[in-house]
Amino acid sequence: MTVEAQKSLDRETRDRLVEGIAARLGVRAERGRRFAELTSLRVGGEIDWVVAPETEEQAAAAAGALDEADVPWRVLGAGSNVLADDERHGYVVVTMREVKGEARFDGERVSVSAGYSLPRLCVDAARKGLSGIEGLNGIPGTVGGALWMNAGAFGHEIGTVVETVRVARGGRIVEVPGEKIKWDYRHTSFRDGELVLGATLRLKFDDAEKIGARMEESKRRRMETQPHGARSAGCFFKNPPGSGLSTGKMIDELGLKGERRGGARVSDVHANFIVTEGEDARASDALALAEEIRARIRRERGVELEYEVELWRSRAPESSEAQDATADSARANDAAGQTDDAAKEGQ
Ligand code: EPU
Repeated sequence: MTVEAQKSLDRETRDRLVEGIAARLGVRAERGRRFAELTSLRVGGEIDWVVAPETEEQAAAAAGALDEADVPWRVLGAGSNVLADDERHGYVVVTMREVKGEARFDGERVSVSAGYSLPRLCVDAARKGLSGIEGLNGIPGTVGGALWMNAGAFGHEIGTVVETVRVARGGRIVEVPGEKIKWDYRHTSFRDGELVLGATLRLKFDDAEKIGARMEESKRRRMETQPHGARSAGCFFKNPPGSGLSTGKMIDELGLKGERRGGARVSDVHANFIVTEGEDARASDALALAEEIRARIRRERGVELEYEVELWRSRAPESSEAQDATADSARANDAAGQTDDAAKEGQ
């Protein structure tokens, strides 16, 4: 979609297009939802449209139709790694939460859709005596979100067990071999504008009791070292790659546990978690606190922290062509906490 096309698409036309696509594909499309309802931090502004497909085919078709109609969209899983700002978000959110189906096991392989719960998949796999993802148990997200960011914990990363990933291209489902994707630390080569629909994982048979014990151990360690039941998005910043430094430890050493900005607070349990509290908490509170942390770490430790959570600005995402070229710089800008001027021009 070109920037011009995006500009010329007035809201009424866009609304008609979205309604038409939803009706044709038989998917639910809702107005007036808020990121505060759809993300684990429980903050963030209104969303123009939320489109909720229920199958991988519907999701692929919806993404293709929105692209064809030049309607800007973004995809959301469980919303457990997203901080969306407080303004009105003038684009379509395609939520993958309903695209869950069943996990289909075949020997050491399991095929699963993007909206399936990651903790549930870990439990299913362990019951079948399949090892490879037990460390991921307890990461509160969807399989799609985990794939998107190569989620990891306690020695396991999802990218290492991916045989193929299904993505939407031109309205259809395309299967991409896992080795064609770059699986980096909390980052992959998937691009904004690309929709991950599901994956086939290749696990390994092992003693079910041993897998169960490892799952229990990672759960115990998580419960001991990370806040649970709190409104958070997991670790807020990445650990500085290759440095051996722990961001949580650095923030803790600066005495910032318990530090507060409005309804956002640095967790007392793990300093790399920002939690929100109360009805009045705002995304801007969490962002102000995060920026304060970055400034302190920059000043006192000489380290530039990169965001691990995704910061979603209320501007419409750029066109898919433009995104291919700018997604990484936009991400880098977001990571640097700068306002994304290039993206602003695209509004
Ligand atoms: N530490 C402190 N104070 C704190 C937090 C940590 O002193 O407030 C110390 C710990 O005592 C430990 C060291 O820092 O000596 C490392 O802490 P931890 O074991 O909790 O690991 P981490 O590097 O902080 C990473 C991931 C987590 C993942 C855990 C377990 C990142 C940014 N974080 O945390 O992932 O669950 O290891 O594998 O990579 C996430 O991705 O959202 C996330 C939480």
